[in-house]
Amino acid sequence: MSTQPTLAFIGAGNMARAIIGGLLSNGYPAANIWTTGTQLEKLADLKQQGMHTTTDNNAAVAAADIVILAVKPQILKTVAQSMAEAVQQHQPLIVSVAAGVLCNSLEQWLGGNIALVRCMPNTPSLVQKGACGLYANPQVSDTQRQQTEQVMQATGLALWVDNEPQLDAVTAVSGSGPAYYFLIMEAMVAAGEKLGLSHEIAQQLTIQTALGAAEMARQSDVEPAELRRRVCSPNGTTEQAIKTFIAQGLPEIIDNGMQACSNRAQAMAEELGK
Ligand SMILES: NC(=O)c1ccc[n+]([C@@H]2O[C@H](COP(=O)([O-])OP(=O)(O)OC[C@H]3O[C@@H](n4cnc5c(N)ncnc54)[C@H](OP(=O)(O)O)[C@@H]3O)[C@@H](O)[C@H]2O)c1
Repeated sequence: MSTQPTLAFIGAGNMARAIIGGLLSNGYPAANIWTTGTQLEKLADLKQQGMHTTTDNNAAVAAADIVILAVKPQILKTVAQSMAEAVQQHQPLIVSVAAGVLCNSLEQWLGGNIALVRCMPNTPSLVQKGACGLYANPQVSDTQRQQTEQVMQATGLALWVDNEPQLDAVTAVSGSGPAYYFLIMEAMVAAGEKLGLSHEIAQQLTIQTALGAAEMARQSDVEPAELRRRVCSPNGTTEQAIKTFIAQGLPEIIDNGMQACSNRAQAMAEELGK
């Protein structure tokens, strides 16, 4: 018998499948995973891999130690309310990956007094290079924290924050962060083309440079600011580019964009909680 907790994914779309893919490649037993959806046919591939599949969310809740809520935020209220009785009866740990839905709302919809972890993952989870912020309410035990880490680390980095509002900052850094890098890549490719490269060459060089810079920063024991200084020889080419970016306010632009992102996350949480 496996000692791994039984997981129930409520909703088996992109994010659930990203987590499941990571878990299976880490050797997590498929028999310990339940997945639910609106149509069994859409879950056939998961069944074929040895998972339990059902359209009955309550049956999955009854079987699970950990229930991962992975439906779209807009339908979470209805889905959660329909599971409240089963959740109250079986008391699993609830892990929500839904963007912008507050613990308070979830607790209310699920009948109150539940152990609840809220996660803010990002799209690179789909390629197992995710970065995710986690917040646990006080009812979550140390063992449940470790179990949550095991699940969420299946798609990449997973770090705890101390309080729920910090998840809005996580949204601004990593949740929405991939799009910032895509924008920078887009601009670099366009500038490379303007300087005479073909689109394909500019794009390949840009992507590999992003990958290389991220990997160097990840492996290095010094801050990115120091890595940047080290590649700026006095009066060299890189220094000219960096001086221009700073003089034209790139750090302030990034600060403003991330502030706007965090403000929007707060406003969306209010809208989704209604
Ligand atoms: N994708 C990302 O990168 C990302 C990043 C951060 C956070 N998230 C969060 O992850 C959650 C899921 O997003 P997603 O991108 O994975 O969405 P998705 O691909 O649309 O998956 C949602 C799944 O929920 C299923 N579903 C709908 N109604 C259901 C019900 N009543 N019971 C059970 N399952 C039901 C849908 O099945 P049917 O197709 O049969 O309707 C669908 O497979 C969202 O809350 C989102 O905020 C996602």
